[in-house]
Amino acid sequence: MLVAGGGSGLGLASARLLRDRGARVAALDLDKGGWDGLFAEADVADEAAVAHAFDALEAEIGVIRVLLNTTGIGHSGLSIGPDRKVTASGFRRTMEVNTLGSFILAQTLAERLTAADADSSGERGVIVNTSSIVAFEGQIGTAAYAAAKGGINAMTLPLAREFARYGIRVVTIAPGIFETPMFSGARGPMIDWLREQVVFPSRPGDAVEFAEMVAHIIANRMMNGTVLRLDGAYRVPVGRHDWWVD
Ligand SMILES: NC(=O)c1ccc[n+]([C@@H]2O[C@H](COP(=O)([O-])OP(=O)(O)OC[C@H]3O[C@@H](n4cnc5c(N)ncnc54)[C@H](O)[C@@H]3O)[C@@H](O)[C@H]2O)c1
Repeated sequence: MLVAGGGSGLGLASARLLRDRGARVAALDLDKGGWDGLFAEADVADEAAVAHAFDALEAEIGVIRVLLNTTGIGHSGLSIGPDRKVTASGFRRTMEVNTLGSFILAQTLAERLTAADADSSGERGVIVNTSSIVAFEGQIGTAAYAAAKGGINAMTLPLAREFARYGIRVVTIAPGIFETPMFSGARGPMIDWLREQVVFPSRPGDAVEFAEMVAHIIANRMMNGTVLRLDGAYRVPVGRHDWWVD
């Protein structure tokens, strides 16, 4: 199994949980972070680097059949006006890492799996991507991130339909708020406000709760072609312009 983004946060918790349950897990990331297992450094937006990482990891653990992608970056700010503003280059990079990166990883895995044996039920592999509930109801200031995550949601069904002939499932998890390094250290009016929105349980999610969902998706063969919210009934409200005023 390969966890892209396995150096930190949701990916690291998933890599650890699945390794504890017996999977051979490798991580791909820009930074090894807290991961203490097999690792390859690569930028997911760079298809040559991703192919090279697959080659190196498959030489160690054999055919990779399960891909979890939890890489991701944010780029927020207002779209117009004099204050903290989204730039075209920031928007482009957000799309490259979140959306194109998810596609490159899925394409790389699926192309290699076409040559692998299927199991007795015809399954060859599983791809789990990570978007965000911001893709459904982005607050003010999240146009770039919401667009990038919406792209991950939108590619889920066409990829699942295309890869079905090879027995490869594709599922996307759209998390609400989870305590990870991306979030835990952050404070400020918007972050405090975000934390208060989780309905029940009225707290941010724990990364292990995300990892448990990944484990279930891998095991449950009817999970395919869908986007699953994991958010404690959180629906993001409108937000405020003044959070982006320096
Ligand atoms: N934590 C949350 O509340 C939350 C909520 C909704 C969605 N998400 C999404 O969940 C995913 C995981 O988030 P997290 O909180 O664990 O974040 P995180 O920052 O802890 O982990 C993300 C990992 O991705 C890696 N990464 C970033 N850009 C990369 C690139 N170009 N190539 C390779 N690796 C790269 C980082 O090095 C990091 O290890 C992200 O896609 C994020 O957008 C998180």
